[in-house]
Amino acid sequence: MIITSTKDLDAIRQSCLSRLYTPEGVKVNIGMASCGIAAGAQASYNRAIQEFSTKQGITISQTGCIGFCEMEPLVEIVAQGKPRMMYHHMTEDKIVEAINGYLVGDYHKKWILGQMRDPRNLLEDQIPNPQDKIQPAEGFPFLEDIPFYAKQVKVALRNCGYMDPDSIEEYIARKGYYAFMKALTMAPADIIKTIKTSGLRGRGGGGFPTGIKWESCAKHSGDRYIICNADEGDPGAYMDRSVLEGDPHSVLEGMLIAALAIGSKQGFIYVRNEYPLAVKRLITAIKEAEKIGLLGDHIAGTNFSFHIKISRGAGAFVCGESTALMSSLEGHVGRPRAKYVHTVEKGFRDGPSNLNNVETYANVAPIILKGGDWYASMGTANSKGTKVFSLVGKVINTGLVEVPMGIPLKDIVFGIGGGVPRKKEFKAVQTGGPSGGCIPTRFLDLSVDYQKLAEVGSIMGSGGMIVMDQDTCMVDVARYFLDFLKEESCGQCNPCREGIKQMLDILTNICQGNGKEGDIELLEELGTTIQRFSLCGLGTSAPNPVLTTILYFRDEYEAHIRDKKCPAGVCKPLFHYEIDPEKCTGCHSCAKKCPQEAITGEKKKPHQLDQSKCIKCGICYDTCKFDAIVIR
Ligand SMILES: Cc1cc2nc3c(=O)[nH]c(=O)nc-3n(C[C@H](O)[C@H](O)[C@H](O)COP(=O)(O)O)c2cc1C
Ligand code: SF4
Ligand code: SF4
Ligand code: SF4
Repeated sequence: MIITSTKDLDAIRQSCLSRLYTPEGVKVNIGMASCGIAAGAQASYNRAIQEFSTKQGITISQTGCIGFCEMEPLVEIVAQGKPRMMYHHMTEDKIVEAINGYLVGDYHKKWILGQMRDPRNLLEDQIPNPQDKIQPAEGFPFLEDIPFYAKQVKVALRNCGYMDPDSIEEYIARKGYYAFMKALTMAPADIIKTIKTSGLRGRGGGGFPTGIKWESCAKHSGDRYIICNADEGDPGAYMDRSVLEGDPHSVLEGMLIAALAIGSKQGFIYVRNEYPLAVKRLITAIKEAEKIGLLGDHIAGTNFSFHIKISRGAGAFVCGESTALMSSLEGHVGRPRAKYVHTVEKGFRDGPSNLNNVETYANVAPIILKGGDWYASMGTANSKGTKVFSLVGKVINTGLVEVPMGIPLKDIVFGIGGGVPRKKEFKAVQTGGPSGGCIPTRFLDLSVDYQKLAEVGSIMGSGGMIVMDQDTCMVDVARYFLDFLKEESCGQCNPCREGIKQMLDILTNICQGNGKEGDIELLEELGTTIQRFSLCGLGTSAPNPVLTTILYFRDEYEAHIRDKKCPAGVCKPLFHYEIDPEKCTGCHSCAKKCPQEAITGEKKKPHQLDQSKCIKCGICYDTCKFDAIVIR
């Protein structure tokens, strides 16, 4: 079937709705994004197929990531008239037991994350929602009420985890491509006006207003290009990968709408080669869209033609920078260039080029369908809508979260994230990727938006959020990020190439116990120089982690330099472990685990630790339940 009208979409949607909400028999949705597969979902999937596919009435299906990565593999079981149950930490054996239990109404309480009250996305207002009509299972929480999901609002992630990413029919059933059909009837200027009204800012890091970018690009003549930046190289960030793996059509639809608005015939998705599953699902999505005439020539029977090609990057962080990306896309070395001529005027192949991030495009369709004012009603004065964060590090509930802009930082870290595990103290949260900053405890009330994060010396970046606890050494953290950036610098300008290396050498010395008076001031001076004189964003933002850790954790730097101590117990030459005889109960647990046999002692009596044997692996520190192993 070739789509020529919204009615055609309606026909596909109607034929597919039951598959999503009222399946025949029982449907088992297995989270098959990278996070799920890494946790063992493939084995559960294979086992479920092997056990049940021959039995009538049980369908095994895949979805993308539903966000709660800590709980993977996640599996949802759905049947008409029964509650939709979400199971966590599934294994090959558990999934068989869970399905068999579900069939007879035994939901295996200890494996249940929750029952889903409403699986619709925000675009589906009139869908008959059977979950409203059925009797919920008593004694099981609703997924939407558990702290991890309660404050989330899913716009970019509206379909991730709720549908099969390889099925264009399921995307259409969730009101996919309706926004594009609407955009086909709008004047390009009106599309741009809607995006401007929404206040959407680019989610790739810089936060540039998307509508203004589209408008500038449309003004310049020549072959115009629509490019999607799926390079995502920040350590700890996987928002874009999850969108591509869980809902690739949302990105294609956003690009199609951008192409209509700007007047482009050719689109490119630049995606790093380390994302094979994202690439695979994108290829399928493009083929499926072409098959029903939503990509290609004369789309929907109109004069509008648009093609999308995938280009695989080799995985260099600097290739995420817009000019470097375009250079790489042209087949040259991916090096940034000075932007006195903007890429919206002269970018890829010297044509006007609009580059947006994956998440930016994923937000476009809902804005077109629901209106710019709707999107602008969420968020703060200068940061509208929602933002996806990957919440990782020392936090109980790691995962992918989408929240309205302006939410207090503590609501993310403690409300959604559940705080720091093992009763350790929260120390800082690093936002904005390697060039972001570390935000200390006293700013936990900060409302998360572009402006407020910048006020405390950090950035929104693309949405990485790394939580750190008392056992994190802030000097070592700064060293880690700088080491990453030194490797990733393209090396064409002096301040970045030499300056980052100089700063890294100083930090390495400090961590090795060779820091000296004046080092902190030298780091500050070098940092400011690199910020001022580097050519691209990699250099101008590289000193951020160093400068913010000096700003908020100067005492830790001083302890390293003056006292030759690492208070967090990370920099090996600067600390040792001791056993506090007052606290030691003589339980012997640490001794049993020590790989060096460095701990000895009689049961129920304080133990001794032989420094000459100890390699400072920290196993005893992590093992002791009585806080008797201390860092000195
Ligand atoms: C070193 C460096 C790396 C970057 N990496 C990415 C990236 O991986 N993905 C991305 O969307 N933007 C990245 N950016 C930002 C892009 O240059 C560009 O601003 C962005 O893709 C524009 O899209 P947006 O307006 O939708 O945010 C990077 C910038 C720099 C300086
Ligand atoms: S700032 Fe660094 S990464 Fe950017 S162009 Fe200069 S050397 Fe290359
Ligand atoms: S685990 Fe702790 S309490 Fe037990 S023997 Fe070791 S130091 Fe003592
Ligand atoms: S730090 Fe490691 S090697 Fe040293 S005493 Fe503890 S467990 Fe043994």
